[in-house]
Amino acid sequence: MERKELIVDYSEYASVAELADDERELMERAMETALNAYAPYSHFHVGAAVQMADGTIVTGSNQENVAYPSGLCAERVAMYSASAQNPGQTMTAMAIVGYNEGEYCEASPCGACRQVMAEYEQCSEHEMTVLCYLAGGRIRRIRGVKSLLPFTFEAQL
Ligand code: THU
Repeated sequence: MERKELIVDYSEYASVAELADDERELMERAMETALNAYAPYSHFHVGAAVQMADGTIVTGSNQENVAYPSGLCAERVAMYSASAQNPGQTMTAMAIVGYNEGEYCEASPCGACRQVMAEYEQCSEHEMTVLCYLAGGRIRRIRGVKSLLPFTFEAQL
């Protein structure tokens, strides 16, 4: 038996203002986009912004549907749109924020979105930085999807 440990590599910032310029812009784009969510059932709005290697930013908001499982999280709307419009291009970072009852709030990506992030990260062989808005306006900056989802599913197809 060999006991092993994993490192979850992240930092926290007191506010958006403390981020580097490019990451602050990414979070601000996610914040704008959260207001475009179509969330008439949960009333929980989420915005996501993906930074591409060439500097392009692609945004997404959660889209719900009366047939509940047909809806999609903001993160996957953003990543699928980013990949559809920029096939094969590296996604270097993603910012995520919630918006509820008139205030920005914490949003941490769900398991399914983490799996999708992990695959785009593996394809590009470049770490994706994930910025999550936290309660009180703090920001969590996670270095690489491995710190969000270890032991991802990888099929040998
Ligand atoms: N949602 C996201 O868009 N991203 C997350 O990280 C968590 C949840 C959406 C799904 C649904 O439309 C609403 O938030 C409430 O769960």
